[in-house]
Amino acid sequence: MKLFGKKRKPSQKAFAVVTGAGSGIGRSFALELAKRGGTVVCSDIDLDAAKETVSLIENLGAKAFAVKCDVGNAKQVEKLAEQAEQLMQHPTTLVINNAGVGLGGKFDEMTLADWKWVADVNLWGVVHGCHYFVPKFKQLGHGAIINVASAASYTAAPEMTAYNVTKAGVRALSETLSAELRKFDIKVNVLCPTLVPTNIIKNGKVPHKGLLDYALTNLAFTTSDKVAKLTLDRLDKDQLYTIPQIDAKLFWLMKRAAPNLYAKFLGNSYRFMK
Ligand SMILES: NC(=O)c1ccc[n+]([C@@H]2O[C@H](COP(=O)([O-])OP(=O)(O)OC[C@H]3O[C@@H](n4cnc5c(N)ncnc54)[C@H](O)[C@@H]3O)[C@@H](O)[C@H]2O)c1
Repeated sequence: MKLFGKKRKPSQKAFAVVTGAGSGIGRSFALELAKRGGTVVCSDIDLDAAKETVSLIENLGAKAFAVKCDVGNAKQVEKLAEQAEQLMQHPTTLVINNAGVGLGGKFDEMTLADWKWVADVNLWGVVHGCHYFVPKFKQLGHGAIINVASAASYTAAPEMTAYNVTKAGVRALSETLSAELRKFDIKVNVLCPTLVPTNIIKNGKVPHKGLLDYALTNLAFTTSDKVAKLTLDRLDKDQLYTIPQIDAKLFWLMKRAAPNLYAKFLGNSYRFMK
């Protein structure tokens, strides 16, 4: 039996596509891949932001390309997969489905248009990325996928229903693909962080923006650069989960060890806070 990818390190000298590469965690992924000898297609719905990331990579002496792509649009992601190969003059070996948006608010105050917006980007964006790159990886004989979920995929924090649902979907998708694609030497990692200082609150539709942005900037236990490095290292070690911070790990353990107690604790804490 073939030993599947035991020695391959997908983050080294990668031919990578990163979605949402114009800011935050996506930009950090793109820069770290370049430092590891990779060529990177930086895609973003905001082309100018993607171009800025490309300039930063070029300053490091590495090769990168900016492509405008709305991950919620299947046709655009299909085109991105084709274009990436042409631009890099090499098949893509790693895709990072990172693009995402923030949405908060009480369940009954959230509109269906809000649900659709966040689902299109956070969930369908990742489905589209996997859909168009997996057949290419199978053809190549190997490949790697990093899907950016969130600790929200299991913490179930109140007033984040739609966001939590999309991230739980991304985690389930990644867990399933990890099992299904192992025999094709396609590695999968799913990133589940709590707070990381980025532009997600500024760019998102969330109540109490100022307060939340303050928390994100000042109370986070990590940086986007550290998260990107750790995730790429975890992928190289063929680990499915990256749960980067101590609070993310604690929530993960509590939820798994005592799920009913956790649900009551969460509900009672929320009731107390309101
Ligand atoms: N920052 C956090 O605290 C945190 C925590 C957990 C998970 N995440 C996840 O990390 C990922 C990256 O977010 P970030 O925190 O770096 O935020 P960010 O706002 O700094 O960066 C997100 C990038 O995605 C791009 N984008 C938005 N909609 C897009 C679309 N439809 N198509 C393509 N690109 C689009 C934006 O232009 C931006 O450049 C997201 O999936 C987010 O849900 C963030």
